[in-house]
Amino acid sequence: MDVSDTLSAFLNELKQVLPHIKCFTDAEVLKNNASDASEDLVFMPQIVIYPESTEEVSQITTLCNYYLVPLTVRGAGTGLSGGALPVKGGVILNMTRMNQILSIDTENLQATVQPGVINFEFQEAVKALGLFYPPDPASWGSCTLGGNVAHSSGGPRAVKYGTTRDYILNLEVVLADGTVIWTGANTLKYSTAYNFTQLFIGSEGTLGIVTKIVCKLIPNPALQYLMLVPFDSPEAACRSVAAVFKAGITPSAMEFMERSAMEWSVKYGAVDFNIESHWNAILLVEVDGFNADVLMHECEILGSIFTAHGASDILFADSAEQKETLWKIRRKVGEAVKNNSTYKEEDTVVPRAALPELLSAVKSIGKKFGFESVCYGHAGDGNLHVNIIKGNLSDKEWNLHVTEGIKAIFKVCKSLGGTISGEHGIGWVQKSYLPIMFSDTHLNMFRAVKQAFDPKGILNPEKIMP
Ligand code: LAC
Ligand code: ZN
Repeated sequence: MDVSDTLSAFLNELKQVLPHIKCFTDAEVLKNNASDASEDLVFMPQIVIYPESTEEVSQITTLCNYYLVPLTVRGAGTGLSGGALPVKGGVILNMTRMNQILSIDTENLQATVQPGVINFEFQEAVKALGLFYPPDPASWGSCTLGGNVAHSSGGPRAVKYGTTRDYILNLEVVLADGTVIWTGANTLKYSTAYNFTQLFIGSEGTLGIVTKIVCKLIPNPALQYLMLVPFDSPEAACRSVAAVFKAGITPSAMEFMERSAMEWSVKYGAVDFNIESHWNAILLVEVDGFNADVLMHECEILGSIFTAHGASDILFADSAEQKETLWKIRRKVGEAVKNNSTYKEEDTVVPRAALPELLSAVKSIGKKFGFESVCYGHAGDGNLHVNIIKGNLSDKEWNLHVTEGIKAIFKVCKSLGGTISGEHGIGWVQKSYLPIMFSDTHLNMFRAVKQAFDPKGILNPEKIMP
């Protein structure tokens, strides 16, 4: 049988087994599922299926496994590492119609959701009950919780609360042969053989398909105080970060933006905001909690730490509108860069006190290889998003020099005790760099895990492993 015969046989049987399945082969639907938010990459699937239940996912997966049809699962397609690209064609399993919040348990502080629930909608639903689900990727208005699980997504609040990984208790997963399992238990503690829940988080659809998610919730901190802290130099901004934590304060966000990141975002988002001429970098710092006096005291300490590190004109956002403006500027940087130039985004992360060293290495590597970068990110986590801008570089320079430059940056990350992705994943666009982090022995152990879960290699093929 050639490929098209296999696909027709697959489709025929699919329609027999699931006569009402939402399955599409028309060009427009295929095109809408051919890319995600990574660079400008496009790979056409041959079939797009929108399942509506675990049972449907199980039947589809069983058939893909039988007919050896590549199966790539996706949510909203906001990923930045190409994890949702169907690079081998085949089926896209689009989970956005499995978008129900199944239960919110206010006694145990946990919720069970389907993977297609949008992050922000979930946040609002639990907030209405006085509860809080902290992971808040920049794309929270559209990204899905299933996608967040696939990458262990972070966001600004990860600095105080942790990433998706820290808020998932249990997962219902469809395995490659269609079997449905729960990975663990709905408990806060788990010391019961290998921890499959944590293995599935961050596995980018390569080991199984998540169909239900049990999330941990916490009481919603009622108060948030936000300040904008400008610095003359980006290095000075980065140097102040570790001092804050050493003083015993854990902000609920501590975000860094170089001047160019702010400028691009303000312009792209048409935000009415004046960036003073001497602001070469800023930190956006938030503290949250339940007691206004405690938070005011923390803000005073923060103010004196930042001033001692060279900050001036610290601005407190005192209206909801000001807070919204500042957060809009921060959250739109990624989109602004994408709309301004061809770019490559690297999700570097190091122990936080090494952030100044990482930033200066990125700039000197850029000079050596001839590229500009726009840097911003989650300073409190040592997580710097390095956006390398194509600008006037020729295609040859872009493809050759930039790859060498990225390798040099990643080697610095590793030497500082960091790694090549903090929250965006490896997917398709970062996989060739994985040997910088791991030995052949290590990579072969990854391959053995993949082989154990997906012996026929149908699930999100060609991802993660170089
Ligand atoms: C952000 C995304 C790109 O922090 O991770 O804006
Ligand atoms: Zn980020």
